[in-house]
Amino acid sequence: MGSSPRFSNIDMTELAIKMDSVSFAYPNSDGPVLQDISLEVRRGEFVGICGPSGAGKTTLALAIRGIIPYTVPGKMKGTVKIFGEDISGQVPAKLTQVMGLVQQDAEAQIVGLTVEDDMAYGMENLLIDPNEMRSRFPETLKLVGLEGYEQRETHALSGGQKQRLAIASSLVIRPKILILDEPTSELDPIGKWEVFRIISDLRERRDMTIIMVEHEMDYLVEYSDRLIAVDEGKIVENANPEQFLRSPRVFGENALERTPDLFGLHLRLAEMNLPIEELPFFSTPNDAQEVLHSILYKLHRPKDTKDAGR
Ligand SMILES: Nc1ncnc2c1ncn2[C@@H]1O[C@H](COP(=O)(O)OP(=O)(O)OP(=O)(O)O)[C@@H](O)[C@H]1O
Ligand SMILES: [Mg+2]
Repeated sequence: MGSSPRFSNIDMTELAIKMDSVSFAYPNSDGPVLQDISLEVRRGEFVGICGPSGAGKTTLALAIRGIIPYTVPGKMKGTVKIFGEDISGQVPAKLTQVMGLVQQDAEAQIVGLTVEDDMAYGMENLLIDPNEMRSRFPETLKLVGLEGYEQRETHALSGGQKQRLAIASSLVIRPKILILDEPTSELDPIGKWEVFRIISDLRERRDMTIIMVEHEMDYLVEYSDRLIAVDEGKIVENANPEQFLRSPRVFGENALERTPDLFGLHLRLAEMNLPIEELPFFSTPNDAQEVLHSILYKLHRPKDTKDAGR
């Protein structure tokens, strides 16, 4: 299945993130925005988070990163542990090397006048050797498809390029955990796919743990090891892709998310009178291709055999 993360060789025994009964309310919010969230993410896991607008996904991402309740204050209960360490009360900047966050609003995240300044900014407090720093720029920009953009002024970048830069500025620090909050909203389908592929590849090569908030269900199902649906501040589903796709809570009546195209195809095929006993599950283009190929083969074989006998 190519670089499909579900066939990853990473030993996922260590806990990267552990949230215990986390509830959070902004000072001016009516009630809690996060309600009793408990979540464990293993090192090297790729966890996709989805759910309707206003569900609390961004708030959850900020709580994992420690920005809530330190920088964005509010009433918080419960604990967040990162690699076993309780981060409550820690200055978020101290965790920069451990956790990167690509924020939903990429534009707001960009602080440098030029692309290079922006990538350098996050590394300033980390005492990374300037030569080492500069050597990371070209390879990181190449990764996100902004090769040669070092001196470009950030204000002149397109929305999609700003998203790519926000990802680059997080990646250049090489964090152990990367949290991405709707990082592909401004990108075209190929750009979206590229981002998923890059992130998935990096987690394999650099042993990164990935939390990706997304509405792009097709990509999310293909690349995540586990998917979480958030609704009204609660985790309402937490399962591997196959179980997740079959979740009536997420895709049934009052669906929280759009059914991914490939799974829609799977459902339609399952209703057809196909020459197979049970339709194998598929949720990635490669798997779908294999399954469709085997169905077509079975459909055509009797005719071919008859033809051959003439
Ligand atoms: N700074 C804030 N102060 C007060 N309320 C907030 C603040 N940020 C978010 N909220 C509220 O908290 C709830 C959850 O918001 P959040 O941004 O976490 O949702 P989300 O799932 O990320 O939504 P979206 O898909 O639109 O990005 C919403 O009702 C929102 O209005
Ligand atoms: Mg959000």
